[in-house]
Amino acid sequence: MRPCAAPRAPAGASAALGLCSLMLLLPPGPACPAGCACTDPHTVDCRDRGLPSVPDPFPLDVRKLLVAGNRIQHIPEGFFIFYGDLVYLDFRNNSLRSLEEGTFSGSAKLAFLDLSYNNLTQLGAGAFRSAGRLVKLSLANNNLTGVHEAAFETLESLQVLELNDNNLRSLNVAALAALPALRTLRLDGNPWLCDCDFAHLFSWIQENVSKLPKGLDEIQCSLPVENRRIFLHELSEASFSECKFSLSLTDLFVIIFSGVAVSIVAIISSFFLATVVQCFQRCAPNKDTEDEDEDEDD
Ligand SMILES: *[C@@H]1O[C@H](CO)[C@@H](O)[C@H](O)[C@H]1NC(C)=O
Ligand SMILES: *[C@@H]1O[C@H](CO)[C@@H](O)[C@H](O)[C@H]1NC(C)=O
Ligand SMILES: *[C@@H]1O[C@H](CO)[C@@H](O)[C@H](O)[C@H]1NC(C)=O
Ligand SMILES: *[C@@H]1O[C@H](CO)[C@@H](O)[C@H](O)[C@H]1NC(C)=O
Repeated sequence: MRPCAAPRAPAGASAALGLCSLMLLLPPGPACPAGCACTDPHTVDCRDRGLPSVPDPFPLDVRKLLVAGNRIQHIPEGFFIFYGDLVYLDFRNNSLRSLEEGTFSGSAKLAFLDLSYNNLTQLGAGAFRSAGRLVKLSLANNNLTGVHEAAFETLESLQVLELNDNNLRSLNVAALAALPALRTLRLDGNPWLCDCDFAHLFSWIQENVSKLPKGLDEIQCSLPVENRRIFLHELSEASFSECKFSLSLTDLFVIIFSGVAVSIVAIISSFFLATVVQCFQRCAPNKDTEDEDEDEDD
């Protein structure tokens, strides 16, 4: 771009000035979507406008997109593919019910993603695939009942994950183990089912309690004791000792049965070997005589 410095020739001055102001008026790429405010060249603000769908198109170099407080139910497939500069996406307080796989592919710079106060019920594998720069992801105050164990794969920079105030009864520890940079995790406000499957999550939480901003006190079990709230700090590894016992009992059975099986196999094979040896001892002389007979025939 040529600088808009004053040209030397006074005759060309007005022409150059006109060109410069024209260039300043021309927005880069598509204009600001109708009804939204583009407060600076990289920010599109469409908050609280009652929008039923994602406004489109935005300036291609948008970095900060604010669409909170609308009625958006769906993000079209591959929607963010052209917005590779997006860093900050506020999708809070909409009506999203699901996220398609790869919704945020192409969002290689996305660092902040707020999906709280939506209507999400399930998180599938790879929902955030390719959004590897994500630092903060909020899924709080949705209606999540299930999170796929590979839902957060590739989120190697994720430091803050909010899953609080959902409908989660269980969570596979593998989903959390995929987050090497995790520092803050919100799990409170879910109806956790503290059965034997929960034992894995419980030990993860115990070892990583420093990552829970509210500690164990805010996490409650809805079951197995229904008429009384059980806080996680009331539980210990011993609470799940029955689960461990039943596990080791199974192991014990496996060991006993495999031991028995091995002995049976050993007995059968030694019996078989003995028979073979015996047969050889008995049959060998006959075979010799047969050979001799054959020799005589020749
Ligand atoms: C959600 O957005 C609506 C409409 O803008 C607003 O009235 C409501 O207070 C917002 N709710 C939350 C929890 O932010
Ligand atoms: C969420 O979904 C339920 C039905 O699954 C619906 O009744 C409710 O209105 C939805 N809420 C929002 C904010 O879209
Ligand atoms: C949560 O989802 C269930 C179905 O999965 C639905 O029946 C319920 O109305 C939803 N709750 C809210 C608050 O949207
Ligand atoms: C605690 O978190 C770290 C990092 O997420 C993980 O590697 C470790 O396995 C967790 N502790 C347990 C007991 O799972």
